[in-house]
Amino acid sequence: MSGRMRAALLGAALAVVAGWVLMGGWSALEAAPEKDSKAVAARKKLMQGNAKSMKALNAAVKAGEFPKAALFASEVGEFALGIAEAFEKKDMAGKTTALANIWDEKAKFGQIASKLLNDSRAVIEAAREKDKAKVEAAVKVVGANCAACHKAYRVPPKKS
Ligand code: HEC
Repeated sequence: MSGRMRAALLGAALAVVAGWVLMGGWSALEAAPEKDSKAVAARKKLMQGNAKSMKALNAAVKAGEFPKAALFASEVGEFALGIAEAFEKKDMAGKTTALANIWDEKAKFGQIASKLLNDSRAVIEAAREKDKAKVEAAVKVVGANCAACHKAYRVPPKKS
């Protein structure tokens, strides 16, 4: 093959690639729908359970149902215990809103989970004392952990 012919062929090939990129071929490839990995699905499920328990906890507190409040607070504590394991290995496969810095700052991430566990225990204590104001304050402290961790380690959810 002559040098000129080779150059012409190469030029044509490059033009095809460039055209494909311009048409969005590359981004289409990158945005190919990907299924949640097992780990991603599991941690999302854990968080959804967390939200459910938190909601039930708030309702119980509002109704002044202290035994229920203690029960749901212990559920939140259990979820907190599961967080470290659920985020053990870096896994970003699928529809995840987790930020990669979780795995660069694993200790800090784990600390928020531990704090969530401790703070949920404070709710149980306050519920045992049947002190509504104290329970309410303790629940707020619990909820602040959800917000703190999401702010640092999660893509903010789109407002609809
Ligand atoms: C130590 C960090 C941390 C704490 C504490 C935490 N979360 Fe999360 N949460 C995350 C991360 C990271 C995600 C994103 C997970 C993903 O998409 O892979 C998430 C996602 C969620 C989701 C969305 C799940 C989905 O289906 O996409 C909900 C709901 C949620 N959290 C609720 C809560 C509630 C309620 C609390 C507090 C009781 C809480 N979280 C505490 C880190 C945390």
